[in-house]
Amino acid sequence: MRGALRGLPSAPPTSGPIGLGTLGDAPALDALERAAFTGDRISLSSWRRLLRSPSARVLVARDGASECAAVPGACVVLLRRGTFVARLYSLAVAPQARNSGLASALVTEALAHARRAGCALLRLESRADNVGAHRLFRRFGFVPSGRKSAYYEDGADAICFQKGLFDDKGQGAHPVLRSARHYGQTLDFTCGPCALLIAMSALDPATVMD
Ligand SMILES: CC(C)(COP(=O)(O)OP(=O)(O)OC[C@H]1O[C@@H](n2cnc3c(N)ncnc32)[C@H](O)[C@@H]1OP(=O)(O)O)[C@@H](O)C(=O)NCCC(=O)NCCS
Repeated sequence: MRGALRGLPSAPPTSGPIGLGTLGDAPALDALERAAFTGDRISLSSWRRLLRSPSARVLVARDGASECAAVPGACVVLLRRGTFVARLYSLAVAPQARNSGLASALVTEALAHARRAGCALLRLESRADNVGAHRLFRRFGFVPSGRKSAYYEDGADAICFQKGLFDDKGQGAHPVLRSARHYGQTLDFTCGPCALLIAMSALDPATVMD
């Protein structure tokens, strides 16, 4: 996620619910993007593409009931067929709506959508200097998982964060993942075969793990 404009809160955030965006939200999302970011912005045509994409969940907080209402906050979750990893691709709250929990509500909703889609992990990138956003993600249990150098237009690095979407008991997990049995690694070099056995046993519980 991208370079933020700094702004002081000056108005209460939306009281409306968070829902899935529609094509009618594209202009408001474009305006939010310009208000929230200095660079690496999502273009209007990209918003339209995301809003049409079956693998993207554009979550919007609308200021009012109309679908063409202003959007003080939004985020995008990307899902991909054949992987249990979802990506929080974008998160933005308009300057006048900040520090009232709107981003927290959007992240909560993003986590729910990723879980509902059967994902095991939510990943994101955030500018290395965006300490406010990092605090928010850490509060939700995201942990740093890497760094990408010169990831942004202006050469800034990205910090990668990720969060597991179910607990040790498998609560919240996709049924296939819940049925996975652990097969412990016994030698330094057995990691690949162990992972394969765990995956095979999840897909076919009759698999003999030996
Ligand atoms: C980062 C960003 C999304 C946070 O949005 P936000 O709506 O202000 O976030 P929240 O209100 O949920 O949380 C922000 C702070 O407000 C506090 N807060 C939440 N609800 C509150 C309330 N009702 N009253 C007072 N403070 C509150 C939170 O505890 C949090 O404090 P912290 O900074 O110490 O963690 C927003 O600043 C933004 O859009 N920035 C520009 C784009 C950006 O950087 N996006 C992220 C890219 S990775």
